[in-house]
Amino acid sequence: MHAWTTMLDTPAVTIDLDLLDANLERTAKLASQAGVKLRPHVKTHKSVWIAQRQMIHGAAGITVAKLGEAEVMADGGIDDILIAYPIVGKSKLERLGNLLRRIKVSVSTDSYEVAKDLSELGEHLKLRIPLYIDVNSGLNRCGKEPGEETAKLAQQIGQLPGIEVVALMTHAGQAYSKSRGEDCREVAHTEAEALVRTQILLRQQGMLIPGISVGSTPTSKFVGELAGVTEMRPGAYVFGDGSQLFTGLIEEEECAMRIFATVVSTPRPGTVIIDAGSKTLTSDRSPHRQGFGYIPELPEAIIVQLSEEHGIIQLPEGTELRIGEIVSIIPNHCCTVTNLHDRLAGLRKGRLERWLQVEARGQVR
Ligand SMILES: Cc1ncc(COP(=O)(O)O)c(C=O)c1O
Repeated sequence: MHAWTTMLDTPAVTIDLDLLDANLERTAKLASQAGVKLRPHVKTHKSVWIAQRQMIHGAAGITVAKLGEAEVMADGGIDDILIAYPIVGKSKLERLGNLLRRIKVSVSTDSYEVAKDLSELGEHLKLRIPLYIDVNSGLNRCGKEPGEETAKLAQQIGQLPGIEVVALMTHAGQAYSKSRGEDCREVAHTEAEALVRTQILLRQQGMLIPGISVGSTPTSKFVGELAGVTEMRPGAYVFGDGSQLFTGLIEEEECAMRIFATVVSTPRPGTVIIDAGSKTLTSDRSPHRQGFGYIPELPEAIIVQLSEEHGIIQLPEGTELRIGEIVSIIPNHCCTVTNLHDRLAGLRKGRLERWLQVEARGQVR
């Protein structure tokens, strides 16, 4: 259990540095034991210091969603970045060109149009831009269907002179809707099989795509069972949060992020107000648990409603919280919490050791 430190004021987003290190180590070990490259998604923490620690723990490079995140991480010394997002439009292509002059950047797409523009940029820079082809493995976001559809696209894209198709990739974010670890295992197998099946089909057609890149925190737990996978891109594993806890994939002790809040009002029996609202906790909900976060000290208490700066807690019968008392909260979704805060308090043994700057906060372009 986290001890509150009087060195901080509330609301405070804290990271237990021992738990963070343990999470980094555990996942790095999973990857190395499976013989799979780890390319963590840094949208969870958006912090150069944590990205550097991930590299120290054996990451082969990092993943980002947006160019702005890549620029911040490149400034922080990370030199191998996958932008797992389609780059569309002149100004973004220009920025990508500038980045490609500095470091190794790979990009992803699920369309010929985007690949064609990337190829022109590659030709202009006299290089072949490493490209991941995004495949739908059930999330129904980006990505053509695995098998024939993706194979056809890959064959077309493969003809372009300024890019090199290096991997098939997918993100099985639908795993978060599952309520049991066993169901997440099934999603992990579906995720990997969708790509491997397409890779085999392409090989039969004479096109070799070496990389199979999967990624989500829930499915990464099963990477050792997945034949053919070469890379994984988990993000949220660094902090742990309700979305992982409620599926039973992690224990409370693995949740490095805790948000501390102070009771500021006790207006009605059974109801208290804390100084953390949607601007601290985000409005993200969980499909598995009611409320806007989990209070380990009071598991039956529910954060029933948020305004921007108020959290309304419904207490179970027979419990009481007084004005001035501090509660700790495991948020539903750690990645969106980080993006609301300039810095996170890095604690060790309950004491403030360092501030973690969220340098890539708000980098949505
Ligand atoms: C393309 C891609 N890869 C990897 C991840 C990491 O997933 P998670 O946050 O579940 O670890 C995400 C998450 O949004 C993603 O969109």
